[in-house]
Amino acid sequence: MNRTSDHILVIFGASGDLTRRKLIPALAELKKLKLLPNNFAVLGIGRTVYSDSSYRDMISSHLEERSDVLEMLYYHAMDPEKSEDYPGLQKRLEELKGQLKIDANYIFYLATPPSLYGVIPTSLADIGLLSEDNGFWKRVIIEKPFGTDIDSARELNSSLLMQLKEHQIYRIDHYLGKETVQNVLVTRFSNGIFEPLWNRNFIHHVEITSSESLGVGTRGGYYDHSGALRDMLQNHLLQLVGLVAMEPPTVISSDAIRNEVLKVFQSFRTIEGEDIERHVIRGQYISSHVRGESMAGYRDEKGVPGESRTETFVAVKLFIDNWRWGGVPFYIRTGKRLPNRVTEIVVHFNPTPHTLFASEGTGNRNQLVIRIQPDEGILLKFGMKEQGAGFKVQEANMDFLYKDLSDSYIPEAYQRLLLDCMQGDSTLYARGDAVEAAWRFVDPILKAWQNDPAIPLHGYPCGTWGPEMADSMIEGAEYTWRYPCKNLADDGLYCEL
Ligand code: BG6
Repeated sequence: MNRTSDHILVIFGASGDLTRRKLIPALAELKKLKLLPNNFAVLGIGRTVYSDSSYRDMISSHLEERSDVLEMLYYHAMDPEKSEDYPGLQKRLEELKGQLKIDANYIFYLATPPSLYGVIPTSLADIGLLSEDNGFWKRVIIEKPFGTDIDSARELNSSLLMQLKEHQIYRIDHYLGKETVQNVLVTRFSNGIFEPLWNRNFIHHVEITSSESLGVGTRGGYYDHSGALRDMLQNHLLQLVGLVAMEPPTVISSDAIRNEVLKVFQSFRTIEGEDIERHVIRGQYISSHVRGESMAGYRDEKGVPGESRTETFVAVKLFIDNWRWGGVPFYIRTGKRLPNRVTEIVVHFNPTPHTLFASEGTGNRNQLVIRIQPDEGILLKFGMKEQGAGFKVQEANMDFLYKDLSDSYIPEAYQRLLLDCMQGDSTLYARGDAVEAAWRFVDPILKAWQNDPAIPLHGYPCGTWGPEMADSMIEGAEYTWRYPCKNLADDGLYCEL
């Protein structure tokens, strides 16, 4: 059943990369699946001048195949920074509404630089376009970064809340739109076998890795002001921690789920003082050869200053100080130019209390590996008897892969998230209070890095699993990170930068 009411989706930043690469393809897919409302239009906004038809042509040249969604695209040129341009927008919306018989429900998607997150909602509110008094809904979607530290995050939230109610604000974290991330909730709360073990009595530690083999590419200018901690950890990785660690919600509703995630964030133990050096390792990739191919170091990337001290890798050991998780470390790491692209959550269970059998590998230390991407699936590692004489244990895998399902279609994150917003469901969007709580955890680390140049920044050769220091971060002689593949660098020296 199509539960989506008629509306107009207004995209600010309509000729930008995000719109071309993610939003329009997601809309095209929704159109194909007949999930868009009958009376629906997309109004692209930007400074570049296009007519409706030249905008459609431009978008069409970026689509892999022709889509019916093109006919639903319209374009309005204006400068989003100028309040005097907004009455023109209002007039255009009125015309479209009349022409296409669409109700006055609007989604305003801010696919723009964050510097416009203040001015666009203010100008829309000034001419009444955000008011829900007439019985029609108005929603605003914004993309990260939601601030660059705790103070700016608070400022952003309060400036948005001057024009909008929290239920109208949709903060995208595209990781929450991933099917496999949502499956963390289903795995935990629809199976009787995992949840009884899901606590400090049975879990030794949790490991979360999100690695990328690519470097910063053309985004050096943005990335150098961000770094791995802000770009990936503060949002995507902490959201994963939230889903792994939360209590069961009372019902599946946006508020019930997000309340539980918030409680996890509020229970993070602050990392400060000497612990910063011990529990947070930062690194930056340096040049090397990977399988014979020469890879430039971060400082040689376009838009990156030659002396940059921005981290392209970060690993953190964090504790959640609550009843369920007291004393269980969560190790999380992310980085660019690592050997391959993989995002996975590994839950390491305690070993058996007494070792009866000789074992190799993780024989008596079960692991549940939740594979977010690629090779989406779940793997349970357990010990089984090696065939033949004696009782020797070998490691075996119980393996579920999405691609083995008869219907193995995995929707793209933006597709799911856009549809949810159209249907007024904000479960998979980040709530303002949780965003601030996540910044509260990250902020002391950022401040320490800014203020104390003695905290090391480790250089790691492209194609390796980050600084050597991070390798030994996990406590316990028999434990280390799970390495989904070996280091791939042919050369390059680890160093301090
Ligand atoms: C984005 C970051 O939010 O997520 C990028 O800004 C990163 O730097 C990307 O590459 C990773 O997303 P995914 O879905 O490819 O894992």
